[in-house]
Amino acid sequence: MNFKGRDIVTIKDFKKEEIVKILDVAEEMLPIAHGKEKSNLLQGYIMASLFFEPSTRTRLSFEAAMKRLGGNVIGFAQPGTTSIQKGESLADTIRTAESYCDVIVIRHPKEGSARLAAEFAAVPIINGGDGAGRHPTQCLLDLFTIRREKGGIEGNKIALLGDLKYGRTVHSLAYALSLFKTEMVFIAPSELQMPKEVVEECRKNGAKLSIKNELDDVDGIDVLYVTRIQKERFPDPEEYEKVAGSYRIDMDILKNAKENMIIMHPLPRVNEISPAIDATKHAAYFRQTFNGVPVRMALLALILGVIE
Ligand code: NCD
Repeated sequence: MNFKGRDIVTIKDFKKEEIVKILDVAEEMLPIAHGKEKSNLLQGYIMASLFFEPSTRTRLSFEAAMKRLGGNVIGFAQPGTTSIQKGESLADTIRTAESYCDVIVIRHPKEGSARLAAEFAAVPIINGGDGAGRHPTQCLLDLFTIRREKGGIEGNKIALLGDLKYGRTVHSLAYALSLFKTEMVFIAPSELQMPKEVVEECRKNGAKLSIKNELDDVDGIDVLYVTRIQKERFPDPEEYEKVAGSYRIDMDILKNAKENMIIMHPLPRVNEISPAIDATKHAAYFRQTFNGVPVRMALLALILGVIE
């Protein structure tokens, strides 16, 4: 297994054993991620974080991961303050950033942008979300969360609920889960169902999956992964209005839930999970948010080649 210098554009870049390795390293990173142990593993290394789209968790946890390991961060969260505003191309922005750093994290509204950046850059590119495409590092932290909360990934029945069409986190997660022995249920209004391409990828990997339009019952579900409707990706606002508010997790739904069912969400949530759920033992989404730090620490350390 060799991670040094690799681009992370999609979760498909990894074999199952490599995913497991990253999660194992993330486990070892936990005391440092919590700030209980100090580390200088990435001292002298610089990560550029280039965010062309809004972000709270992905950007902050990447930066926290780098800094907890003694590394440095440069970058921008508002492309309007950079030469992009003057008409500079993505390729030139990438060529510039790479001359100042050792690794680049990029989030961009266009699908395929991370792949393009990887073609131009000699330093590793990590995709922090490309439009409605993929979000591989979110996927790794989602897997890490399932493993920690449920004691393992295999054997779980996992429901992915919400905007499966435009949600990039579920595209990556569905593929990754199909590498493990899990049962998946894709639940979305028909307008927002999982793209055929992702369903086919999963089936090709031998996934056991079913497709539904409504969450009528949570009976038997071990992990309920909820997503926001990606309003900003709808080409037509009227299409958004048709599906807005079409599902919501509230206390009622929990009546039939397994005792140890967990609810996950990549966040931000808008109104798809009632805040009353937060205080229940089912709510795992804030722990999931924290898990972004150890997982991204592991990934950065492996890609920069300071650990093997
Ligand atoms: C997600 C994203 O940006 O794709 N958030 C995240 O990275 N944690 C989900 C979303 O925006 O709904």
